[in-house]
Amino acid sequence: MSTTQTTQTTQSAIAAAEAHSAHNYHPLPVVVATADGAWLTDVEGRRFLDMLAGYSALNFGHGNRRLIDAAKAQLERVTLTSRAFHHDRFGDFCAQLAELCDMEMVLPMNTGAEAVETAVKTARKWGYRVKGVPDNMAKIVVAADNFHGRTTTIISFSTDPEARADYGPYTPGFEIVPYGDTAAMEAALTDNTVAVLLEPIQGEAGVLVPPPGYLRRVRELTRERDVLFIADEIQSGLGRTGRTFACEHEGVVPDMYLLGKALGGGVVPVSAVVSSAAVLGVHRPGEHGSTFGGNPLACAVALEVIAMLRTGEYQQRAAELGEHLHHELGLLAGGGAVEAVRGRGLWAGVDIAPSHGTGREISEKLLDRGVLVKDTHGSTIRIAPPLVISKEDLDWGLDQLRGVLTEG
Ligand SMILES: Cc1ncc(COP(=O)(O)O)c(C=O)c1O
Repeated sequence: MSTTQTTQTTQSAIAAAEAHSAHNYHPLPVVVATADGAWLTDVEGRRFLDMLAGYSALNFGHGNRRLIDAAKAQLERVTLTSRAFHHDRFGDFCAQLAELCDMEMVLPMNTGAEAVETAVKTARKWGYRVKGVPDNMAKIVVAADNFHGRTTTIISFSTDPEARADYGPYTPGFEIVPYGDTAAMEAALTDNTVAVLLEPIQGEAGVLVPPPGYLRRVRELTRERDVLFIADEIQSGLGRTGRTFACEHEGVVPDMYLLGKALGGGVVPVSAVVSSAAVLGVHRPGEHGSTFGGNPLACAVALEVIAMLRTGEYQQRAAELGEHLHHELGLLAGGGAVEAVRGRGLWAGVDIAPSHGTGREISEKLLDRGVLVKDTHGSTIRIAPPLVISKEDLDWGLDQLRGVLTEG
């Protein structure tokens, strides 16, 4: 059945959503009812291979038994205390996440954007209280084509007109430099720079991997200039690239990791800023917080995520299957339909030649063949299946992509 032949059940579900929700998304015409592992089933009973994994929030797959069991057990105990009181999962969560990151302190929030906001506030406070930057002069250097979330401050330093237009006035205090350009980065750092905020691989921009040595040079420069290096690993982290953190591919340890998405296992939103005591220690009671940040349910699920990452099994899967994925996509890149392929581990951006359709058109054709991906920036499709996908399913998904690209 093609997307143009959906039945009444799908059509009415989509019509209801469109009538009563803001149109800030343009979803593919599929209505998911259930999911398991790397597979989704829609309201018509059709099965789809999930090659997006909730933008990497579902690294451990849908309905992962360990995560669901951890969530269920915690649901029966206590779900929310607010940070007005201590609860018995919080200490463990912070200690274990800090250990996973080889850092000292954790500040838990809920969404990725909140972790980024927290990092911006932390870096500024660190700048004034520790580095000695004059009041209100702190600058944070970011990269062009970044994606760090949707809050007013974050979109203030976006270069994407779609994300930014008509949301002004914008928050000052950010300097934008080209991604991958170490000379521009060096030139942008001043005595008032408190932080450099980067995605080690730019996800929404189309899975852009910076030139070799870039992250290492940024690390050197930030160290020399007493500037915090903040790595937004919200999409790139927690196994996706074949390592726990994408920064590891260059042997780089930032001053702050920003984590989200997969930290909540696709079950609950969990995000965190992870750093040293010298940096996160700048916050005093009452200066920052969140009602739901670090709640017992979030901590219970995240503790299980951390335990799963400790084994290295998921990172290894991502590395091995990722090598296979990139080998196969590399073959496609020679065939005329694909202009470029980028990425690392089980994560790829595939630029479709305009003669073969837009990213959206390719995504719709893949949907007709039972594969779910998502386009970005017109001509790119992103491939990021759950790390639990089998090699057979991955090959089947790639067969469908080959089919779509050769049919048109
Ligand atoms: C690198 C990066 N940072 C931050 C975010 C924002 O996360 P959230 O949508 O949970 O606010 C995203 C989301 O795609 C992301 O990819």
